[in-house]
Amino acid sequence: MPATPARIVVLVSGAGTNLQALLDAAADPAYGAEVVAVGADRDGIEALERARRAEVPTFVHRLRDFATRPEWDAALAGSVASYRPDVVVLAGFMKLVGPDYLAALGQRTVNTHPALSPAFPGMHGPRDALEYGVKVTGATLFVVDRGVDTGPIVAQAAVPVADDDTEETLHERIKVAERAMLVEAVGRMAREGYRVEGRRVRFGD
Ligand code: GRF
Repeated sequence: MPATPARIVVLVSGAGTNLQALLDAAADPAYGAEVVAVGADRDGIEALERARRAEVPTFVHRLRDFATRPEWDAALAGSVASYRPDVVVLAGFMKLVGPDYLAALGQRTVNTHPALSPAFPGMHGPRDALEYGVKVTGATLFVVDRGVDTGPIVAQAAVPVADDDTEETLHERIKVAERAMLVEAVGRMAREGYRVEGRRVRFGD
């Protein structure tokens, strides 16, 4: 167990239930990590309220407030880096980070996706899995790279698809498994360290 808790920055765009799961876990010192800041690409979202209730600093960078996407990306990277994170968690963050961000923080940034990679990348994982007719789907935590949901996999959780599932019921059930997976894997990253070897992510120094 490290003497000081790992510093976690979380980026969000929506409801923030994954963020809340991390905040709740981090309230226990034995978890080994603390959420030191929450960033967003938009205002007025419940995720930012969750951060404020937990008295965690927040920042917002809206794409539309920047002349170009690279400028937005550099501002995002700068804000995240200013909190000196050990791990950055994209938890329902609905933007692709760009080259500046990846160069500065890519190796320490993980993203959670509501499907079992490499199946169903992109914005509509639950809907695409349902339409394809798979019997099992789930959630994937991966280290970000230049692709869409393509990076080396840290953890996965499987979720059975029910005959009467809708996109909403399936996504809600995935999110229950996703939150548990996220809390477990980020805690291990914080307490044990991790390394990326090609496509493999291994816990431990
Ligand atoms: C999660 O299922 C995430 O994987 C997806 O959007 C959802 C965000 O949920 N990209 P929340 O904002 O953490 O509640």
